[in-house]
Amino acid sequence: MSAQIGVTGLAVMGANLARNLARNGFTVALHNRSVEKTDTLLAKHGDEGEFVRTETLQELVDALEKPRRVLIMVKAGAPVDAVVDQLVPLLEEGDIVIDGGNSHYQDTRRREAALAEKGLHFVGVGVSGGEEGALNGPSIMPGGSKESYDALGPLLEKISAKADDGAPCCAWIGTDGAGHFVKMVHNGIEYADMQVIGEAYSLLRGAAGIEPAEQAAIFEEWNKGDLSSFLIEITAQVLGHVDAKTGKPFVDVVVDAAGQKGTGRWTVQSALDLGSPVSGIAESVFARGISSQAAQREIAQTTLAGHEAEVALPEGFVEDVREALYASKLVSYAQGLDMLTSAAKEYGWDLKLDEIASLWRAGCIIRADLLKVIMEAYKGDQAPANLLFAPAFVESVGKAVPAWRRVVATAVQLGIPVPVFSSSLAYYDALRAKRLPAAVIQGQRDLFGAHTYRRVDVEGTFHTLWGEDRSEISAVDTH
Ligand code: 6PG
Repeated sequence: MSAQIGVTGLAVMGANLARNLARNGFTVALHNRSVEKTDTLLAKHGDEGEFVRTETLQELVDALEKPRRVLIMVKAGAPVDAVVDQLVPLLEEGDIVIDGGNSHYQDTRRREAALAEKGLHFVGVGVSGGEEGALNGPSIMPGGSKESYDALGPLLEKISAKADDGAPCCAWIGTDGAGHFVKMVHNGIEYADMQVIGEAYSLLRGAAGIEPAEQAAIFEEWNKGDLSSFLIEITAQVLGHVDAKTGKPFVDVVVDAAGQKGTGRWTVQSALDLGSPVSGIAESVFARGISSQAAQREIAQTTLAGHEAEVALPEGFVEDVREALYASKLVSYAQGLDMLTSAAKEYGWDLKLDEIASLWRAGCIIRADLLKVIMEAYKGDQAPANLLFAPAFVESVGKAVPAWRRVVATAVQLGIPVPVFSSSLAYYDALRAKRLPAAVIQGQRDLFGAHTYRRVDVEGTFHTLWGEDRSEISAVDTH
């Protein structure tokens, strides 16, 4: 029997995707470096569908119908290159190599170009939804050639999550690394979304004294409104959980140092290269960094003065926090999507933001009711230059602004760090500002380095002779 797809790398994500494919009626050839994993999978789940057991990559390749589709599910980085190097000599023109890990999009671009020279397709696929999503329906972001998507798309769409309207949470994103790029930005937004939820928790606890169990009920309530999302839902579960050993709230017995595998950091690194101001996403990565600086945090507790003010909490503080959370979350999405627009220009990708929002509606970690509204905002040819300019959000974020300002001001006075709440508000205000201090910076640059500036009233590029008579001359643009 020939298989429609092969999966190599049967750790939990690979195994669950293989099972998902088999459960959806596809014949799946299985391969793992150590055959025990393959046998364990077959012993436990072999009855879920049609599987072909293979022991070597050659056997895997031989088991596949043409064009062959081979899904690599190994750790990002060197392990992917190692498998690709072993696989390529066994394949034929037109075959499709798929990388479903969290690979860096530049690695994907490199691999795509190298395999294209050999007549092979390399498809970097972003997969979101964790273990559960991989098994029951993830959100899938495939890049690579359009031709490869024609051969691969139907399988991926079948196993993907489905949105409320039945649409598959999978669509061709764009050539070479576009799929992995969009997955990376998804993770950047995920970081910011998690951090703003954390900041809301800090404020409810630190400013309003609301204990985790009570907060769980608040988050459950919030999950019924326009914040409704997977991350809010699981936050209610985490906050409501009580540690069996101590009887304390679970969040009080967990070390408050956030881990990170690197996709948030990659988002910010790439944003810097693109000149894309993802300040909230960046702050969320930095917040994880500070949380992990245990030694410095300990010293700071006894050495750095706080001078926190006595603050009477504004009435309706909990609702204020909810609105600040909503507005800050929206800014994170706006920044992430703006970064996608910059990347599309840089790499020549025709990224369709409505489709991307659509396939984030279910299956992925940032799935949220809001994504339906975001999807609508980008439909048609009236796409806003920034998500915040979409009429629905002009209104809803606009309404949240007074609460947002009160919450940030309260947090600052109480000495509660809210880096994403506050930087998101600063981003919003910077966009709105009629004049920014950038004019002063241009003056400074021109004074110390003759970097030149443009004027508001006359076309051209100018330089002031600061060290001489301060007269102005026309100059060659060096900004
Ligand atoms: C997803 C997740 C997934 C993974 C993150 C965790 O979309 O399913 O984003 O990819 O859980 O990489 O990232 P950190 O370990 O960096 O928090």
